[in-house]
Amino acid sequence: MKLFITSYLAVVSFVFFNVQQDPKKESIERGSLVYEDFCMTCHLASGEGLKATFPPLAKSDYLLNNREASIRGIKYGQKGEIVVNGEKYNSFMAPLGLSDDEVADVMNYILNSWGNSSDKLVTEEEVAKIKKN
Ligand code: HEC
Repeated sequence: MKLFITSYLAVVSFVFFNVQQDPKKESIERGSLVYEDFCMTCHLASGEGLKATFPPLAKSDYLLNNREASIRGIKYGQKGEIVVNGEKYNSFMAPLGLSDDEVADVMNYILNSWGNSSDKLVTEEEVAKIKKN
């Protein structure tokens, strides 16, 4: 009986441990699919972009230091001059038609890929609060 209880507890805790959710990991996984569908054509699989045409996301100082402006750009489109890693871009990114939760997921993906890392999770609520300028 004692053995039975011990193994029962072991199974229960194993199952519990495995269904416990990791919101950041799940958001990043969903974000990687959004990235493949909507972003990769320009910013490339490596996140390196194309020099003087499509700015990099990998180790982008703009992205890492301008969280709000980056979210706004993905949500509503981005045009005009910006400087990314010392390089000027004066171009146009059309709005991509993503929902707020998709913007949050793709932000979590690009903020935590290619050597980028960010502790603070981007949430749907945070994206919803960001208005067009
Ligand atoms: C058609 C090409 C294209 C697509 C698709 C595209 N972008 Fe962009 N993106 C650009 C261009 C061009 C700029 C620079 C705009 C400017 O000069 O103001 C930019 C700028 C950015 C920036 C700010 C600058 C930087 O490099 O840190 C971020 C962040 C960004 N894009 C993320 C995304 C994400 C995420 C997606 C997909 C949801 C996406 N882009 C899809 C072309 C694109």
